[in-house]
Amino acid sequence: MIYQTCIACGEKHGADEIVYSCKRCGDLLEVEYDYDLLKAKLEKSDWRSLSLSVWRYKDFMPIRDPSKVISLNEGGTGLHSCNRLINFVGVERLYVKNEGENPTGSFKDRGMTVGVTNAVELGMKTVVCASTGNTSASLAAYAAKAGLQCIVFIPSGKIAYGKLAQAMVYGAKVVQIRGNFDHALKTVLELSEKHREVYLLNSINPYRLEGQKTLAHEICDQLNKRSPDRVVLPVGNAGNISSLWKGFTEFHKLGMIDKLPKMTGIQAEGAAPIARAIKNGEDEILPLDKPETIATAIRIGVPISWKKAMRAIKESGGTAETVTDEEILEAQKMLARSEGLFVEPASASSIAGLKKLFEMGKIGKDEVVVCVTTGHGLKDPDIAIKISEKPSEVDAEIGSVENLLGLSRSMPVTVVSR
Ligand code: F0G
Repeated sequence: MIYQTCIACGEKHGADEIVYSCKRCGDLLEVEYDYDLLKAKLEKSDWRSLSLSVWRYKDFMPIRDPSKVISLNEGGTGLHSCNRLINFVGVERLYVKNEGENPTGSFKDRGMTVGVTNAVELGMKTVVCASTGNTSASLAAYAAKAGLQCIVFIPSGKIAYGKLAQAMVYGAKVVQIRGNFDHALKTVLELSEKHREVYLLNSINPYRLEGQKTLAHEICDQLNKRSPDRVVLPVGNAGNISSLWKGFTEFHKLGMIDKLPKMTGIQAEGAAPIARAIKNGEDEILPLDKPETIATAIRIGVPISWKKAMRAIKESGGTAETVTDEEILEAQKMLARSEGLFVEPASASSIAGLKKLFEMGKIGKDEVVVCVTTGHGLKDPDIAIKISEKPSEVDAEIGSVENLLGLSRSMPVTVVSR
């Protein structure tokens, strides 16, 4: 049996129920399995022979009919060993799990393949979300593939251009809400509560997080059935850190790995309610009215899954930290120039956070660390251009080019004669 279980009071809701929060106490839900049944199923399954992808882990998913799966070939992203970047961050063994390699360029595709498949299985015709950009791009693509109507709510004028272009070209109805992401999310929550025919696919929907937990599964499989010592990732609405922790703990419960990583969440200084609560030893977050950061993907003041995220950090013995916009941009540049990986600013916050925690003595040199870079750099080209050297312009004439490059005009031409 599969349930949607409340994380606070334990109330169970049916797997087919369209419900986004506990009907008894209003808290967050998570998908719960019968793990003995799952273990038995895995023993008979061919999953280990399938190639790395979200659907390699089909047995760990709450999907009823595999023929209904809506997929764009998500997952199977690279786990890059970063032998040059280690000089910048300090630790000796660093991997980057680069989620920009997904079909729409972010980790959201892992969640949407499962969430949109569930929408199809439930017979829904319209899907909605609020978004700082990537969720809307991803939902729009999967809705297009499934033939569903898609409506996305974004904060007016505040999302990166690449993401807006994606949502528009995939044919979503794009609604700009006057205000920030938190206002857009509040509106879409009200809309989906009032109009049950509109299916909500923000990360409050526990089905989406089931897809995202495969990020953890893949990391363990890529490390030869081992967990890293620590996973560092950006935190915005706090769904992803929660789903990774679920992925790791489920793998552990099922005997796939023998230890768990320390979950380490990074937030931008101007949008850091969770990191502040963790650093101050508080049990609850203080919502922020006006979140601000150049990393627009994580410009969020009231993360909806904060309770799950804080539970993940505390249970794992991890931590949380804040980074400035300057630190984020420096890390973005360093990652691109030392490893050839171009990620968007929010993603680079994981690298910046790792460097900061290492310098503070909170991360050991010998720890095996995986940083998750969550979205592709081309999502936000304006920032990349702003932080890079401008192109030079010269006439199409060899002398001008030599001058520009500092090459001597009288460089001898060597003629090889026999
Ligand atoms: N990195 C990127 C690139 C993101 O787009 C997001 C969230 C996060 C990190 C944070 O993940 O919310 O699960 O803690 N983007 C959402 C969106 C909010 O609407 O695209 P989280």
